[in-house]
Amino acid sequence: MRWTISKTETADTAGDLLVFPIFQKNEKADLKSLLKGTKGGIRPTAAGQTPAAGLKKKVATSGFVAKASSMLPVYCSNTKAGWLLLTGFGDEKKVGLETIRKAAGTVAQKARNMKTARILVAVPDSARLGIDDAAFTRAWVEGAEMGLSAVGILKTDKKSKDIPASWKFLADSSRHKALRAGVAEGEKFAAGCNFARALVNEPPNLQTPVKLAEAAQKMAKEEGMSCKILTVPQMKKLNMGGLLGVGQGSSNPPRLIALKYKGGKSKKSPTVALVGKGVTFDTGGISLKPGANMDLMKSDMGGAAAVLGAARIIARLGLDVNLVTIVPTAENMPDGNAIRPADVLTMANGKTVEVLNTDAEGRLILGDALWYAGRGKPDYIIDAATLTGACVVALGNHFAGLMSNSSELIDSLKQAGGETFERVWHLPLIDEHKDAMKGTWSDLKNLGPREGGALTAAGFLSHFVPDDTQWAHVDIAGPSYAEKGSATSPVGGTGFGARLLARAVQIIVS
Ligand code: BES
Ligand code: MN
Ligand code: ZN
Repeated sequence: MRWTISKTETADTAGDLLVFPIFQKNEKADLKSLLKGTKGGIRPTAAGQTPAAGLKKKVATSGFVAKASSMLPVYCSNTKAGWLLLTGFGDEKKVGLETIRKAAGTVAQKARNMKTARILVAVPDSARLGIDDAAFTRAWVEGAEMGLSAVGILKTDKKSKDIPASWKFLADSSRHKALRAGVAEGEKFAAGCNFARALVNEPPNLQTPVKLAEAAQKMAKEEGMSCKILTVPQMKKLNMGGLLGVGQGSSNPPRLIALKYKGGKSKKSPTVALVGKGVTFDTGGISLKPGANMDLMKSDMGGAAAVLGAARIIARLGLDVNLVTIVPTAENMPDGNAIRPADVLTMANGKTVEVLNTDAEGRLILGDALWYAGRGKPDYIIDAATLTGACVVALGNHFAGLMSNSSELIDSLKQAGGETFERVWHLPLIDEHKDAMKGTWSDLKNLGPREGGALTAAGFLSHFVPDDTQWAHVDIAGPSYAEKGSATSPVGGTGFGARLLARAVQIIVS
């Protein structure tokens, strides 16, 4: 999609659909200003009506109330755009960034249905919204691009998806600089999110660990990052028993993906490691999952998608940070060669782990990946993983669980999530959770008590994080996949975490 900014009068700008924001309880005054701003140029269809009376009548008879994301299309013969879309923003005191994203996504989906290619957006007064111009366009661009992220790309009757193709914000020239800056950021965040979504949506027969590594390598090249991919012999040299163990039941071999972005501008620039769980399909292994909804386990690489999407955003923003992105990727399958309950694996950090349940595979591959990340002595490590059903039971689909040893990371991630609307909920992580994962036959076991399953999973991971490193674990099992579409997120992978982690890193380095 193409985004531009113009100062042309509302009624005189060429386009196919003019979006005009209206606020709840203020409908009359907003309509009046619309009519004034267009010098009476807006003329609804009915013959014999004066423009103002016609529009007012149309709005009155439709019962239009400007609730957030409500819309009323009005045809007007006297604007170049033809169609006018009155777009509700709700109560102006309650407008947040997500209100804007949702309105934009709703408009975008509507425009696609109406097959309108060129959209004009009259930018509302920033003082009135309490949201500055850059934040407005950033959120609008994100909402529209995310609302139209591709679904059904493998359908053979696929039609062209470039509708709407162009968007133009209309505002005084004094506001253009800020609006333009917001557009540029919004495009980057949306691109990272949609990239993550596409990775999650890819079917598991086409997206094996090798293919995921190829996708990461391609992205790294496009964004100017270096990329190293460890194959089985290299993982054996590093004694990565966890990643090798989980991968050994599949004919699709595991990989460890390591991307590096050297954005640090000085010696003081921090090093951040992002680590994402990349199980391309989770059958549960020998501890096989039940059949119902097992197809959703193609999304078990949602953490990998999140960190790769975040890396793409961070590189495009050119943040002052040295970023390493680590993705352990494997397919968890039952097979004659698969690991079994009671097996003992030796992890890359030398610790022995008894496998009590082969479905607790995420922590096994992450243990090795966290150790690998820690070897580079980063200042911060953040991992994202679709790790536990327990976290979904506790928090549902609208929150990720956040467990951390660092108040700075907790604050940054909470702030970032509030802004991107990828919300995190801080859960406890104490020594008791770490100790609960000590094994009977070996140092650790991969299955803890039933209660507090999200917390003890984090406790397990903590055994692989260097003691003095600030670390946060984000369990995204709930929000990473949506079985129902919304204004900003079609059905499927949500890309949850890509914008969150990029924004958190942006906060950390600011
Ligand atoms: N990938 C699953 C967790 C999951 C569940 C993700 C629901 C998305 C939606 C993970 O590998 C898993 O199977 N976890 C087990 C752990 C248990 C055996 C300790 C779980 O949560 O049941
Ligand atoms: Mn599992
Ligand atoms: Zn899993």
